[in-house]
Amino acid sequence: MSAIVLDSDLGRYTISRYIYGHFAEHLGRCVYEGIWVGENSTIHNKRGVRQDVVQALRQIKIPVLRWPGGCFADEYHWRDGIGPHTSRPTMVNTHWGGVTENNHFGTHEFMDLCDQLQCEPYICGNVGSGTVREMQQWVEYLTFDGKSPMADLRRANGRDDPWSLKFWGVGNENWGCGGRMRPEFYADQFRRYATYVRDFGDSGLHRIACGPNADNYHWTETVMAEAGTIRDRRYGTPPMAGLALHYYTRLGPPGRRGSATEFGEDEWFAILKNALHMETLIDRHSTIMDRYDPDKLVDLIVDEWGTWYEVEPGTNPGFLYQQNTLRDALVAGLTLNIFNRHCDRVRMANIAQTVNVLQAMVLTDGDKMVKTPSYHVFDMYKVHQDAMLVPLNLTCGTYEFGREAIPTLDASASRDQDGRVHITLCNVDPQNTAEITCDVRGMTISAAEAQVLTAGKISAHNTFEDPDAVVPSNLPGLIVAEGQIALSVPPKSVVLISIS
Ligand code: AHR
Repeated sequence: MSAIVLDSDLGRYTISRYIYGHFAEHLGRCVYEGIWVGENSTIHNKRGVRQDVVQALRQIKIPVLRWPGGCFADEYHWRDGIGPHTSRPTMVNTHWGGVTENNHFGTHEFMDLCDQLQCEPYICGNVGSGTVREMQQWVEYLTFDGKSPMADLRRANGRDDPWSLKFWGVGNENWGCGGRMRPEFYADQFRRYATYVRDFGDSGLHRIACGPNADNYHWTETVMAEAGTIRDRRYGTPPMAGLALHYYTRLGPPGRRGSATEFGEDEWFAILKNALHMETLIDRHSTIMDRYDPDKLVDLIVDEWGTWYEVEPGTNPGFLYQQNTLRDALVAGLTLNIFNRHCDRVRMANIAQTVNVLQAMVLTDGDKMVKTPSYHVFDMYKVHQDAMLVPLNLTCGTYEFGREAIPTLDASASRDQDGRVHITLCNVDPQNTAEITCDVRGMTISAAEAQVLTAGKISAHNTFEDPDAVVPSNLPGLIVAEGQIALSVPPKSVVLISIS
């Protein structure tokens, strides 16, 4: 028997809705085909943006979208992506398949997409191959209301009003594809860029620094020491608002990443265990950040995370197209629970990537679109957005495989503004049901219901032919008595309990 005890009337930290953010790069079929089809497409679109995808993402309340990369960001020159489509220069997308990028999806199209999605934009600027001036001018183009060369250029391109823009990335993976920099060098670059990338409007730009790759604690230590603590604004330099950690759940290096759909229990276990490693990373990076920033003014932002397998057979290896199974749903559930539990420091996260790339929310094929199991987890978990994290104590057994073991269950809980309490639970054991009691303190339970996402096989997934193989359904059998809820959590499942 497993047990949860939660104090529904307590809590100190709000779960930022931005933890439920997304990431879309000019990579494979994410932006082109997956989002942008052009105005002349036969696929239903609004100003070139496909509407089935917009509707699906609005349903899960997408709060923020990061763009244009990824590695692409540090080779992207924004001025190639404005003005009439016919006069935009092309470029080679060297990172992702060597394909020719026509730059038809640029600044105006991205900001329009965010409007259509009703989400906030998060733009990643080019540090690796760009200049301070180029980045400064991009922000001026986007946000300056007065008369200036960049604001006038924006008006000439059809947009009078500046856009509202809060989140700004100062480079991407500058320890790797973004310039192979050392942390000492990057910290100075961040200080320099942050100084000149001004606040042209009243958005109060959040300048987000490139953070560590997984367990590179030296990076966090150095960047926090050298650039994370500037608070005096003597030279007009605004403070660092966030540090961006990247961590992907994978089995090994390229060639040994395994298949997204063809796997046994060994790879099920290994992926879920690796997903849980996120908690260690957050704990350790937060400990370093706490030393330099005890008041937690700098956000830890996990702006790339998700599963990464070998591409689907027969697809372009540079396009990172993979299917998405019940296993990915469990990775999403575990990871989002971890982010919720660490919402005192983790204030944004962006799963990679929204459409057709890595752990996608939706997959498209021509005019067809299918929602993945990961999508359904984001749909179930959206109740946590901007809700109060409530203290939860979980006691459970372990799921053992070979000589290793991980906890069978994982959970987080929050209280929304109407006083409803939501618990999200993952049972990673593929064979055994978990019998659990939830002792809900601090409220009188008048109603409780639960939803479950599961399937017959660990590799179950949705296809264009069978789009509803893995979808949430009502979980029957909840017993409510004397302030307690008892329920059976099916094997290999994600469960949402709603209590009012
Ligand atoms: O998401 C795919 C790639 O993974 C991104 O472009 C890069 O930042 C990371 O290495």
